[in-house]
Amino acid sequence: MFKQLTDSVFYTGVLNPALRVFDVIMRTEYGTSYNAYAVRGSEKNALIEAVHRSFFAGYLESITEALGGARPDYLILNHCEPDHTGCVDKLLERFPDLTIVVSQAGSIYIKQIINRPGARIRVVKDGERISLGDKTLQFISAPFLHWPDSMFTWLPEEQTLFTCDFLGAHFCEPMLVDTGVVYEDQYWEAVRYYYDCIFRPFGTYVQNGLEKTAGLDARFVCTSHGPVLTKNGMLHRVRERYAAWSAPEKRTHKRIPVFYCSAYGNTGRLAEAVVRGVQKALPGAECEAFNLIEHDLDDLAARMNESDAFLIGSPTINRDAVAPVWQLLARIEAVNIQKRPVALFGSYGWSGEALPHIAERLNSVKAKLYEHQVKAVLVPTEDDINAAENLGETFARSLP
Ligand code: FEO
Repeated sequence: MFKQLTDSVFYTGVLNPALRVFDVIMRTEYGTSYNAYAVRGSEKNALIEAVHRSFFAGYLESITEALGGARPDYLILNHCEPDHTGCVDKLLERFPDLTIVVSQAGSIYIKQIINRPGARIRVVKDGERISLGDKTLQFISAPFLHWPDSMFTWLPEEQTLFTCDFLGAHFCEPMLVDTGVVYEDQYWEAVRYYYDCIFRPFGTYVQNGLEKTAGLDARFVCTSHGPVLTKNGMLHRVRERYAAWSAPEKRTHKRIPVFYCSAYGNTGRLAEAVVRGVQKALPGAECEAFNLIEHDLDDLAARMNESDAFLIGSPTINRDAVAPVWQLLARIEAVNIQKRPVALFGSYGWSGEALPHIAERLNSVKAKLYEHQVKAVLVPTEDDINAAENLGETFARSLP
């Protein structure tokens, strides 16, 4: 797919409207696009980002058309995840003299993706420039947006910024530019979901990325997924939303959600007692019990990841915690959960392995496990209920 965006910038990406799951864990109900670009200078040509390996043939066709058959000199990779780099080894077979331009961290990743010892790789630093003749590429370091390798590329002569995943969305419509988006509600939904899945763990870095690019007065922001953002279209609104979502929260009270599953209501009764205990210790705290099978898992995961502390209750079935508990724990943002206080409780019938298994998972992400737990055999007795209430109370009192 080929389209001219400015005098020197051409779209060379591909659309994938049929994709329904991205990177194993993300839903893509509106498909996605793997955006890539070519920049034609008076002396040199550059490609910016590549595409998923499956779409190499179409990508190559677009490059050939965009460059009028000329050879590209540089391949700028603002981020090396394989949806943007999977075809680079094939590209190098076609253009072996191509110089790959990446950040220091990117150089490590791309070497391990292409596995070609002789490849030309140039590492660029924040503020460094490459001249294409009448056009300039300037690099802006943007680590953890969303990998350590991430950077942006600024083309001042065209007031165009290339941000790879940052400010993007898994969204696919035939028009490549935001002013052509037909299903706007769905687009904004996709922007929010994409932010939550990819950037929410990196709030401080998002703020840094916005700040670093605020003064550029970009006319176009060329992301790697979804429509190209324009100054007269959605760019300002996307930036505003990223700013709001990533702003540090000012809280006046603690958030201590209690998550549980309950086969016969026994772990549920413990959960209610735990909540009473937390509220006794911290009357102003936001503390509510959530039965995992009655709520949207993404919403619960957000509550868990944004909490000050949390508790998990699970029955033991087949010597393990139950599946919804594992599904929640699979959504832990490990980069942010370190030292987060967590306490455990649950009812069991035979041997009660659920809690040690959950503890193992939480230890692996360096959460701070509370030293006490409450385990009740089948139907909790009054003593068990009191113990659960006491667990909530002492756990809440132990919080910093
Ligand atoms: Fe679109 Fe992080 O790759």
